[in-house]
Amino acid sequence: AKKAVLGPLVGAVDQGTSSTRFLVFNSKTAELLSHHQVEIKQEFPKEGWVEQDPKEILMSVYECIEKTCEKLEQLNIDISNIKAIGVSNQRETTVVWDKITGEPLYNAVVWLDLRTQSTVENLSKRIPGNNNFVKSKTGLPLSTYFSAVKVRWLLDNVKEVQKAVEEDRALFGTIDSWLIWSLTGGTNGGVHCTDVTNASRTMLFNIHSLQWDKELCDFFGIPMKILPNVRSSSEIYGLMKISHSLKAGSLEGVPISGCLGDQSAALVGQMCFRDGQAKNTYGTGCFLLCNTGRKCVFSEHGLLTTVAYKLGRDKPVYYALEGSVAIAGAVIRWLRDNLGIIRSSDEIEKLAKEVGTSYGCYFVPAFSGLYAPYWEPSARGIICGLTQFTNKCHIAFAALEAVCFQTREILDAMNRDCGIPLSHLQVDGGMTNNKILMQLQADILYIPVVKPSMPETTALGAAMAAGAAEGVGVWSLEPEDLSAVTMERFEPQINAEESEIRYSTWKKAVMKSMGWVT
Ligand code: G3P
Repeated sequence: AKKAVLGPLVGAVDQGTSSTRFLVFNSKTAELLSHHQVEIKQEFPKEGWVEQDPKEILMSVYECIEKTCEKLEQLNIDISNIKAIGVSNQRETTVVWDKITGEPLYNAVVWLDLRTQSTVENLSKRIPGNNNFVKSKTGLPLSTYFSAVKVRWLLDNVKEVQKAVEEDRALFGTIDSWLIWSLTGGTNGGVHCTDVTNASRTMLFNIHSLQWDKELCDFFGIPMKILPNVRSSSEIYGLMKISHSLKAGSLEGVPISGCLGDQSAALVGQMCFRDGQAKNTYGTGCFLLCNTGRKCVFSEHGLLTTVAYKLGRDKPVYYALEGSVAIAGAVIRWLRDNLGIIRSSDEIEKLAKEVGTSYGCYFVPAFSGLYAPYWEPSARGIICGLTQFTNKCHIAFAALEAVCFQTREILDAMNRDCGIPLSHLQVDGGMTNNKILMQLQADILYIPVVKPSMPETTALGAAMAAGAAEGVGVWSLEPEDLSAVTMERFEPQINAEESEIRYSTWKKAVMKSMGWVT
C-alpha cells in the first residue's frame, strides 16, 4: 500500500517514575499519531528506599520506540519521516555508571527515596542561618528529594562507585543523561550531557550563572569530573546510534535535539510561555509550575525556584516557581499494589463514584514525608476519620481528594507568592482522564480546571523542543500553531463554604501526619 504523506514527524521519549512512553507527533499540527507505554518496576529494598533498574528503564525506551514504530507502519506512515527526538524524564533520580563497560554501578536512586535523611540533617547544620547559599544558588531547600545527596550516598556506600571515580570511569547523570548517553552510542561515543532544567534539580547547579557550582560540589563532596555537560533544552546533542533492536535501529542517525525535565516539558507543551502562566501535572507526584519569565522569584511560602526552559543555545533562560507534591498517582498504585482494593488504576474512578463522598475519611499520603509547602521529612501517611461505616469506596474517594487538597495547598502558596491569584488551573497528565478527580479539583480549588483534550503535554513539550532546534527546524514555537487545541472545562459545583470546611478538615489531618518519625 502507498504510504500516507505527512509533514515531518517528531518523536518524544517520556520517561516517568511509573512508566515510559514513546510518542510520535505531526510537527505541523501537533497531532499525536501513535504511542506506546510500558510500566516501570519500583523496588523498595528497605523502608523509605526507592530504587529502579537503569537497564530496565533503557530497555523500556527501546521497547516503546519499537512498538510505536510498528504501529506507525500499520497506519502506513513512513518512520523515515521522524526528523528529531526529544527526551523528557522524571527528574532528580540519580544514576552512576561505568563509561567503559556501559553498566550502571548501582540501581537508580529515585527522587522519592528517603535514605539520605541523616545526610541532609548533618549537612543542614553546616549552612549558616544568615547565608543559605544552597537555597540562594539553586533555588532549592536542602532535601532528600534532589540528586546531590543521592550521589553523596553512592560515593559513601558503594565500593564500585568509589573505585570507578578513582579510576576516572564513573559518569553521573539524571535519567535524561543516562538515556541520551545510551541512545547516542553508549560506550561507543555516547554523549554525556544534560539540559539546564534537569541540572537545576541536582542541587549542584547555579541557576543564575547556569553552570555547575564549585562551592556546592565541594559542600556535597561531589567530584566535578563525573558531571555531564550542561546544554540548552533545544539543540542537537547527538544522533541516535543503537544496535539493540531492529525497529529502534531504524531511527539510526535521527538527531536527539530536545531535553527537558518532565515538569518543564509539560509547561512548554501547555504553551505556558508567558509570565504568570501555570500548569499542574498529575503523574506519580503532582507538580504545579508557574512561569516567572526571565526573573528568578524566591518563594516565601515553601515553593521552589527552578529553571523552566531555555529553548536554544542563544535563547534566554526562563524560570518558574514550583509547588511539588510527592504522592499523587502513586497513592492509586499503592491502593492497587499494597492494599489490593483495585486491580487496575482506572477502577479507582468506579469505586469513588459508587459513594460520591469520603464520608469524613481523610487520607494524607505522606509516604515520603511531605514536600511543598511543608518540606517535612518526619511526616508519614495516615488515614483518619474512620468509622464502622467506612469502606474501600470511601478510602478510594479520600485518596482522590488527597490529590486535590495537596494541589490546593500549592496553589494557595503560589497565589501568595505571585500576588495575582490564578483565575483557572491548566492541568495535564494521566490522572486527568479521571472525571471525578477533575470535578473534585474544581470544587476544592474553587476555580475552573481546564484540560487539553490531548493530555500528553509532557511528551508534546519535549517534541516541540526537539523539532524547533537549530539544524532541525521542523516545529515553530509560535502560539497560534496550537490554537486548534480543544479544552475541557470543569466548573466548581459545590458552594464555597462547603469547599472551605472540607479543606480545613484536611489541614487538621495533615497536622496529625507530622512528626511521626523522630
Ligand atoms: O521531580 C519528580 C518528577 O519529575 C516526577 O514526575 O511524572 O514521574 O510524577 P512524574
